Amino acid sequence: MIRLSTGIPEFDKLIEGGIPQGFFVAVTGEPGTGKTIFSLHFIAEGLREGDNCIYVTTEESRDSIVRQAKQFNWDFEEYMEKKLIIIDALMKEKEDEWSLTELNAEELVNKVIEAKQKLGTGRARLVIDSVSALFLDKPAMARKISYYLKRVLNKWKFTIYATSQYAITTSQAFGFGVEHVADGIIRFRRAIKDGMLHRYVLIEKMRQTNHDKYVWEIDIKPGKGIVLLGKINERREDYALPPKVMQKIKEANEDKIT
Ligand SMILES: Nc1ncnc2c1ncn2[C@@H]1O[C@H](COP(=O)(O)OP(=O)(O)O)[C@@H](O)[C@H]1O
Ligand SMILES: [Mg+2]
Repeated sequence: MIRLSTGIPEFDKLIEGGIPQGFFVAVTGEPGTGKTIFSLHFIAEGLREGDNCIYVTTEESRDSIVRQAKQFNWDFEEYMEKKLIIIDALMKEKEDEWSLTELNAEELVNKVIEAKQKLGTGRARLVIDSVSALFLDKPAMARKISYYLKRVLNKWKFTIYATSQYAITTSQAFGFGVEHVADGIIRFRRAIKDGMLHRYVLIEKMRQTNHDKYVWEIDIKPGKGIVLLGKINERREDYALPPKVMQKIKEANEDKIT
């Protein structure tokens, strides 16, 4: 089996060397937990290895993505339109060839395929950051849209990261659409401990892989990006949502059913 490096060697070790080629991986978590930076690692590694890379950004502009990458010493500009295309779905600039003027699944797929054709043959990596933007106004469609993306894009031989928001209020509605169809789920979390922001990552699913099952504390370091600090062996409460919040979500679900 061919596996693609995530660009974070310590993380690769947790998944038997990398993401199996052709997988559709959900990268989920609350805002600020590291999903975009994790995705940038994947793209930077792809460029290093000579892969064709496509990054669809719905929450930040192309410039913002390029600037963020530069902070970790990845020069994306050098590769632009040769090995990398960043599809900007935020700015909606009509004159820009690689902008989406409308954000829906079909437009996105068409643009991605156009970009793939422009970059040519060879191994390809795709990041959709975020897929939740596609069903913000229609959460009930989340699963269907995710399935559509996976089915069509699979034919084009991409290995895919699809990020999705995972906030307390939206977890039920948005988190699961993409997770149901995903071959892998990498979940980021955050917590305040001792008056300080902590971030964590857990591999919840990786098909065909005997993956690590621990929660790892991570940090985002200037000039370096995501680093693994160590496993969390403490109580589940240290990283799970507070019991009160879990109870509220449970109650809300029961209300929906009855
Ligand atoms: N140059 C940097 N050095 C250290 N930390 C950074 C740097 N740039 C961004 N970060 C951290 O990364 C966070 C954003 O991570 P990001 O991957 O964009 O989150 P998400 O996509 O999950 O919302 C910022 O809030 C900040 O804490
Ligand atoms: Mg982000």
